[in-house]
Amino acid sequence: MGRLIVCDHPLIQHKMTFIRDKNTNTKDFRELVDEVATLMAYEITRDVPLVSVNVETPVAVAECKVVSGRMVGLIPILRAGLGMVEGMLKLIPSAKVGHIGLARNPETLRPVEYYINLPTDATERLLIVIDPMLATGGSANAAIESLKNRGCKQIKLMCLIAAPEGVEAVQKAHPDIDIYLAALDSRLDEHGYIIPGLGDAGDRLFGTM
Ligand code: URA
Repeated sequence: MGRLIVCDHPLIQHKMTFIRDKNTNTKDFRELVDEVATLMAYEITRDVPLVSVNVETPVAVAECKVVSGRMVGLIPILRAGLGMVEGMLKLIPSAKVGHIGLARNPETLRPVEYYINLPTDATERLLIVIDPMLATGGSANAAIESLKNRGCKQIKLMCLIAAPEGVEAVQKAHPDIDIYLAALDSRLDEHGYIIPGLGDAGDRLFGTM
């Protein structure tokens, strides 16, 4: 089974409090999400492979480490996933960014992919699917499935907040995937909102409430 990692560093918990607050304005919300994404980038890249290099310091040769080769691809799910991309890029500037657009079919209620654009070398990278709100898990599962169908093998899922229902759905459909969260909340309400959550992440990021 993939791991469930709740990144509960005190700085993340502090920032999440203001992210959740309905009185936080769009500008502050966007900045806080960006900051949490940067802090989570540190944890999510903890196991990227390193290679040795020799570096001449002013006094000697030191055997040091650098991250090896082609490393990370960020795959935000449109549109709320976009809010975490810049924050990740601050720590992983060499990451390439792909995009997946999913819309819910009003009849089947299943997510339908209307857009996908991946880095050309996506199959060689660690892909981090970014879906800030893991509610039912439908979108995350569809995005992961789409990447797997294209031959991608190293995939992680990154969310701000998840409901237990969403975690369970991803673990059932994709037991090989590690899930990184800033917070695990209580439940979903009858409209599919995470409780207590933060409301609609896309609306709060883009000021479309
Ligand atoms: N998507 C959101 O933006 N918020 C939720 O609470 C659930 C899904």
